[in-house]
Amino acid sequence: MGNTAKLVLDGKELQLPVVVGSEGEVGIDISKLRPQTGAITLDPSFANTGACESAITFIDGENGILRYRGYDIADLANHATFPEVCHLLIYGRLPTRPEREEFRMRLTMHSLVHEDMKKFFEGFAPSAHPMVILSAMIASLSAYYPEQETQEEIDLNIIRLLAKAKTLAAFSYKKSIGQPFIYPDNERTYLENFLLMMFGVPCETYEVNPVVRSALNKLLILHADHEQNCSTTTVRTVGSGGANLFASVSAGVCALWGPLHGGANQAVIEMLEVIRKDGSNFQKYVDLTKSKDQDFKLMGFGHRVYKNFDPRARILKEAADEVLADLGVDDPLLDIAKRLEEVALADSFFIERNLYPNVDFYSGVLYRAIGIPTDMFTVMFALGRLPGWIAHWLEQRNTPGTRISRPRQIYSGEQARAWVPLEER
Ligand code: CMC
Repeated sequence: MGNTAKLVLDGKELQLPVVVGSEGEVGIDISKLRPQTGAITLDPSFANTGACESAITFIDGENGILRYRGYDIADLANHATFPEVCHLLIYGRLPTRPEREEFRMRLTMHSLVHEDMKKFFEGFAPSAHPMVILSAMIASLSAYYPEQETQEEIDLNIIRLLAKAKTLAAFSYKKSIGQPFIYPDNERTYLENFLLMMFGVPCETYEVNPVVRSALNKLLILHADHEQNCSTTTVRTVGSGGANLFASVSAGVCALWGPLHGGANQAVIEMLEVIRKDGSNFQKYVDLTKSKDQDFKLMGFGHRVYKNFDPRARILKEAADEVLADLGVDDPLLDIAKRLEEVALADSFFIERNLYPNVDFYSGVLYRAIGIPTDMFTVMFALGRLPGWIAHWLEQRNTPGTRISRPRQIYSGEQARAWVPLEER
């Protein structure tokens, strides 16, 4: 591979530098294209555009590989704790034992939210989706913990965000079911506290089921980062304008909400329910995706980057079997999901387009098994993705020479025309 690429435009030749990543990925650096030729590249939806160099996560979509800071996702899902993965993504390395203890302690000590913030919850309609509450509450944290300047102060806000987001998520759930908020307990770990605040009730002790804790740990780790996806790109874009951490991450929560992104986990369960009620006619729904007049897709299938199995889906499929068996849960939707997968993977439309189950296909069945209600699924995705968003926001902030994100366009509207007075229109 040469270190330049040649572009010929209007008879003029331009040498463009070639950048090669640490895993051999190749990018043509076109940052001087417009100044030197007046032309821009056109790449709707950015399918061929690298927006930055990043040292956080590596994906090889053709071979189904996902690594955080060099560690394989399966190793992390099987051996790490979610706070360890947060540390890895944000600070670039696994914590030592003392670092792990200190990190754990800081995450616990900052779990409480300012008492005044509880009043905000009262203002939401009882039917409000927990994603809107989470996004609004995370943005509101900037009113209580203003933007910081030094690395140490920024770090404190990172800890606050990680620690408080789970409290806000659990409070939003309690609000939706009309139960009193349960406060975190300093003796408990990150995940145990979250489960306590979700499922505890006043005046009763709440014991965490280790199977539930371990399933939740795996789910959060598998969602922790996925390089330049829609919500992470949003966080980086908002952050590139100088917006503070809370504002940038709140925008990421909103970006995640859509059914083509993090909202797919909720959409999968809703789709499986429809298929079940309709007599489990799998081929009918696979065929529906091919119809030109129906805008129907199999939720939890397909991916912009993976053209092979999403490694996260493989891990979750296995985990779903184990966790449901361990908890003694018999969920007909797991069977429906497996049979739908079989029918889809054997269908030529899916084979030709390399469409495989993604992370959202089996995650919902697992969330259901551990008692998480359907409209909280995307909130769970957001909690998992938090360290990834934070790591990208920080990496960008610490990269010298980062400029505000500002794509160009090819204008396709009217050419200049004369003003028409109202009476002549
Ligand atoms: N069911 C049926 N057909 C599909 C699906 C699907 N789920 N996904 C893609 N296709 C078809 C698509 O219609 C297109 O066909 P054609 O070539 O005939 O026009 C072809 O496959 C290529 O798809 P695309 O729309 O160009 O793919 P994309 O990279 O723009 O979109 C996606 C990726 C994930 C948005 C899309 O696959 C999708 O909508 N999937 C369902 C929603 C979903 O599960 N989202 C979660 C993604 S993983 C977690 C996350 O990132 O949040």
